[in-house]
Parts: sequence; C-alpha cells; structure tokens
Amino acid sequence: MEKKVTLTYNEGKDSLELPVLPSTLGPDVVDIRSFSKTGMFTFDPGFLATSSCESKITYIDGDLGQLYYRGYPIEQLAEQSDYLEVCYLLINGELPTAQQSAEFNRTVMSHTMVHEQLTRFFNGFRRDAHPMAMMVGVVGALSAFYQDSLDINNEEHRKVAMFRLISKIPTIAAMCYRYNQGLPFVYPRNDLSYTANFMHMMFSTPCEPYVPNPVLVRALDVIFTLHADHEQNASTSTVRLAGSSGANPFACIAAGIACLWGPSHGGANEAVLLMLDEIGSVDKVPAFMEGVKAKTHKLMGFGHRVYKNMDPRASVMRRICYEVLNELGLQNDPKFKLAMELERIALEDSYFIERKLYPNVDFYSGIVQSALGIPVPMFTVIFALARTVGWISHWNEMIADPGMKIGRPRQQYTGATKRDYVPADQRG
Ligand SMILES: CC(C)(COP(=O)(O)OP(=O)(O)OC[C@H]1O[C@@H](n2cnc3c(N)ncnc32)[C@H](O)[C@@H]1OP(=O)(O)O)[C@@H](O)C(=O)NCCC(=O)NCCS
Repeated sequence: MEKKVTLTYNEGKDSLELPVLPSTLGPDVVDIRSFSKTGMFTFDPGFLATSSCESKITYIDGDLGQLYYRGYPIEQLAEQSDYLEVCYLLINGELPTAQQSAEFNRTVMSHTMVHEQLTRFFNGFRRDAHPMAMMVGVVGALSAFYQDSLDINNEEHRKVAMFRLISKIPTIAAMCYRYNQGLPFVYPRNDLSYTANFMHMMFSTPCEPYVPNPVLVRALDVIFTLHADHEQNASTSTVRLAGSSGANPFACIAAGIACLWGPSHGGANEAVLLMLDEIGSVDKVPAFMEGVKAKTHKLMGFGHRVYKNMDPRASVMRRICYEVLNELGLQNDPKFKLAMELERIALEDSYFIERKLYPNVDFYSGIVQSALGIPVPMFTVIFALARTVGWISHWNEMIADPGMKIGRPRQQYTGATKRDYVPADQRG
C-alpha cells in the first residue's frame, strides 16, 4: 500500500496528505512539494532532514558504517578496483567491461594536456598563493578555454566536459604545486596510469628519469577512490545548485572546489598534521590526551558527523598507511611514531570508546600524503582532484533529470516589516 503522511494544521481544521516516496536503501522521503497549500514553508537550515534531490549514485549509512558507490561497498572497490574504473562506475552506473575500461582509460589519458595559454594563467598568482586559491581560479578559467561542446542539454557535450575535467584536473593540481615550489611544469605522460602520471607531474624533474614506486602509486590511487564521492555533501550540493541555473560545468566545479576548501569540509587532514607538529614528540602524548579529555582541544582526525561506528574508508586507509610507512622505512620516523601512539591510546581509552570516536579517513590520509612527500596545503587539492568525478557525476545526473528545477530555497523572514524611506536630514 502507498505510504502517506497526514498533516493537520490551522488548529486541527485542515489537513494535507503528503505522499511518501520509497528509497531502495535508507529512509523513505516525504514529498512536501504540495506543502505550500498550507500557506507556510518548512524550515530546515543545513538540510538536516531534507533531501534536496533524488540520486542513484552513492549511498551512506553512518550508523552502520556503510558507503556504497552505485551499490558497490567502498571496501571492495578500494581493494579490487582502481580509480579510473571507479570514475567509469560513478558516471555510467555500471562497472565497465574490459573493452569499455580500456577505451575509457585511453580517452582520459589522451586529454591530459591543458591549453598552453592556460599555463600562463599561473603567472598572475603570487608564488605563495594557497594551491586551493589557484585551483578555484584555474579550474574556473577552463570555461574560457574550452568553449566548444558546451550545450549542457546535449548528452555527448556533457560527456566531453566530463572527460576534460577528469583528464585535466591532475595536470592543473600538479601545476599548483610546482608553481608554489618554483619548479617547472611537467607535461603529462600518457603511457603511465592516471595516478602514476599525477605523481610524475608532481615529483619528476627535467634532470633525471622518474620511476613511480608501484606501492606508493597504489596508495594514492586508493586515496582517490576513497574520496571520489560522498553523496549530497556541501561541495556536491554547491555544484548541483550552481549547475541548476544551467551554468558552465567548469565554473560549477570551481564552485565545488571553493566550498571544499573550507576547514569544516576538506581541511581536516591538514589539521591532523598541524596537531602532530604541535604535540611534537611521543612523550608529550599523555599530557595532550589529558587536554583532550578536559575538552581543551580536540583530537583531530577522530570522530565523524555521519559515521558513528566506524568510517569504512578509515579501515582501508589504515592498512594503506602501514604499507606506505613500511615501504618508505618510516615506521620509526618521530612524527609517524607519534601518530601511531595517538591511535593506540585512543583506541584503548574509555573516553573515546564511550563516545564512539574512531580514527576517520583524514587521520590516515594526512599521514600517508605526508609520507608521500605531498605538502600539507596540497592535501585539499588532492581531495578536490579525486572528488571532481563525484561532482561531475551528480551534475550530469541532475541535468539529465527531466524534472530538474533551478535550486531556489525559501526563507523564514524575520527582518523589518514594510516602512517608508526617510531622507537623510530627517533621520534621528
Ligand atoms: C567530526 C566532528 C565535527 C563530529 O562532531 P559531532 O558529530 O558533532 O560530535 P559531537 O561534537 O556531538 O561529539 C560527541 C562527543 O565526543 C567529543 N568529541 C567529538 N569529536 C572529538 C574529537 N575529535 N576529540 C575529542 N573529543 C571529541 C565531544 O566533545 C562530545 O563529548 P561530550 O559528549 O562529552 O560532550 C568531530 O568529531 C570533530 O571535530 N572531529 C575532529 C575533526 C575531524 O577530524 N574532522 C574530520 C571529519 S571527516
């Protein structure tokens, strides 16, 4: 039987039947589109109880610690798939056949170069500009460089924009790093894998050959997979809202990058490294933990707003973290020993166990990225690179939806009521 919610209002005189729309997983949703008949709006700042769209891409159950891309558990994808296959899955809804996969990889890897004029764009930035500031500007500038194939109502054109973004975002991300360092830009190598090519553009020099380490490439590839999508978070919702007006897709992704930059969203792994620097050494850990329990400061990289049992991405990242530290012989590096001591204490301490505070993905990904030689300000850039496919998949899903409407929230107005203008010389 069709589920309905009946709402009684006007002191019990009127009622409204609201249909309940079924979900395949997770809570069903009450369709409040006819709610305006009551002469009222609903109020839900931060969208804590409101679905802003219908989506088939990603599912999260925070209480059970589940994250699925197109139905596939993240642990299986991180273990058995790779980032480009995950990109295909997010965009197309199904895993590719071997032939589809080869074709997809070839297309992505043959569009990695950016317009040469775009490289000059960087000269306008200060050398010490934050790489996320450059990302917002340069990704937005793609809209001025790729002006063909921009009819967003044409499926083929949308595909071209998606390929351009996935192909070029690592090139731009690496350029932000190189520009900060005063190093020459490195052209992509299309014979390498997507992630190995990114490491090549980040770390190679014109002076000697660069051979990417497969263990480290795999670790970064898993980081990309774990960050590829996370359903309707702030940056994804930003991309959808920007895109709902029919805006240029590159500009929409730049809006997503701007939103991700905020410390409440993409900045947590950066905070982990700053915390490790602040603690300094293993002997200072007990005093730091006392401060955490006294609520003087938080243990960064622990706890999550959605995952209250376990962040499924954190278990994968933990394994990768140990593999990378072993591969690089960094097990005894003071900073990483300190991190592992924090993890050990927190996992055994009743304060953290009672509050269900487990290490989150940012705790380990910050450590791994630091071990890979990626500087702290670049952490959020790596996140943006990986999340681009999620943003563009949601943008594509939204544009393809015939019921799509421009996003236009309502408000509860609590300002002044109507009043007449008073000339300046008569104001008291
Ligand atoms: C992510 C975060 C904002 C989630 O917060 P939340 O869901 O609102 O959780 P709450 O603030 O309600 O915390 C519940 C309890 O755990 C404590 N707590 C939460 N995170 C904590 C942390 N990282 N260190 C120490 N105590 C923490 C709170 O003080 C609170 O204690 P109380 O019950 O005694 O008052 C929070 O855990 C946090 O700030 N973590 C550190 C930053 C971080 O790693 N963010 C990345 C998220 S991917």
